[in-house]
Amino acid sequence: MNLDFTPKELASYIKKAGELVREIYEEKLDRHVFPGKTPKDVQALFDEPLPEQGLNVEALLEKVRSDVIGSATMNIGPHYYGYITGGGNQVAILAEMISASLNQNNLKWHSSPISTELEKLVVNWVSQFIGYSDQVAGAILDGGSTANFNCLAVARKNMSPENLSAEGMYGMKPMTIYVSEEGHSSFDKAVDALGIGLNNLRKIPVNDQFQIRPDLLRQQIKKDRKDGLNPICVIGIAGTTNSGAVDNLGVLSDVAKEEKMWYHVDAAYGGPAAKLPSVQHLFDGIEEADSVVVNPHKWLYVPFEAACILVKEPEKLRRTFSLIPDYLRSNEDEGGRTDLMEYQLPLTKSFKSLKVWMTLKAFGSKRLRETIQGDIENAQYLQSLIEKSDDFEMLAPVPLSIACFQYAPAGLSEEETDELNRKLAHAIEQDGRIFLTATKIRGKTALRTCFINPRTTKKDVEWIPEVIRDLAGKVD
Ligand SMILES: Cc1ncc(COP(=O)(O)O)c(C=O)c1O
Repeated sequence: MNLDFTPKELASYIKKAGELVREIYEEKLDRHVFPGKTPKDVQALFDEPLPEQGLNVEALLEKVRSDVIGSATMNIGPHYYGYITGGGNQVAILAEMISASLNQNNLKWHSSPISTELEKLVVNWVSQFIGYSDQVAGAILDGGSTANFNCLAVARKNMSPENLSAEGMYGMKPMTIYVSEEGHSSFDKAVDALGIGLNNLRKIPVNDQFQIRPDLLRQQIKKDRKDGLNPICVIGIAGTTNSGAVDNLGVLSDVAKEEKMWYHVDAAYGGPAAKLPSVQHLFDGIEEADSVVVNPHKWLYVPFEAACILVKEPEKLRRTFSLIPDYLRSNEDEGGRTDLMEYQLPLTKSFKSLKVWMTLKAFGSKRLRETIQGDIENAQYLQSLIEKSDDFEMLAPVPLSIACFQYAPAGLSEEETDELNRKLAHAIEQDGRIFLTATKIRGKTALRTCFINPRTTKKDVEWIPEVIRDLAGKVD
């Protein structure tokens, strides 16, 4: 039974869906960021038995308008500063529609020549954009967590004896991996899932700039070797999740070389800033990494999902993931074909490269870099407002575009200030005018703002302390 629309219906529904998109951008961006609903509220909107009969598309789009869009957090809007969530971009909306229409599956070259070749091109463009390497192998995956997992799998495979694939890790010396205590939780998940073990992920203390301490890193590696362990990988962070700190990547590269270890850099967030004149000195040494993760869906404004793994020596990536069963053996010997399934854990995935390619083509690297610089200036502007005020206090430096601070009016003890900020984080969400999250900085509760959305203006930034002051007067 054919499920397609008539050509006339198709054109009409695309127009109607386009109208919804226009409404989001014209009417909803300034709406309260958090929709102000409870889990029960959202469940109630969709609570029905599996439908036996279909609904006509006009009515379905109406339901989407009221209940889907109405229950969404407006994280593409100018007042969203939570987590590390990019604002997306409108060229990529067009890409997503075309990508879904073509439904490409890039497991093998012949199942999608265009998706394969665009992915190879885009991976190299992203690598050049961050100043890594001109010729890398890589893949575009769903997120930084999966990407870090894939890269640690590459490190593990290439730093262990030949029989790892067949025999697993049984009987081997325990492997150890090193990251700063500010490292993203995806590394904890990865070492757990890869059988390396959480106790073998060494969290090295940081300095007052939240950068890993190379002296303590060296000491720990030496001790572990002496204790009979097998140190395999040093991880540098180019933009920590908490405060945007960039490790001293050059020194980490020296350590990895001296110790003959794999060197991985997690640039999931900060990578796109790496060639900006204002901050590029922070990223010196990234070019020495064996592998890098960078997320176009964060600071390259590509909508979810798109996270790149970049590996300097293609064969090291291929030998980690290449496994070709009979049902996937066809035509691979025809000149110059690459089957992406050999370079990543997933087999089937969506045509992610189209939206990244269209974004880079439509805006060009110059405009994207200028936009990223604008985000950094927004974070610095908030920092300057806070430093000038007498009721706020910065809790961390602002090397990139994350600012962490406390509302700290005079007369409160440290504990009372912490308690007030915890309450404020909740009140801010419920109020909905702005959206930010809380974290801990050296044990203190911080309000954390991340600026990776070019829709945010200086005036919007000025509003952040105003809204917080207003709410502080209302929380008890
Ligand atoms: C430094 C860093 N690495 C990895 C990740 C994980 O990325 P994702 O959320 O795309 O899985 C994040 C997420 O914020 C991050 O900040």
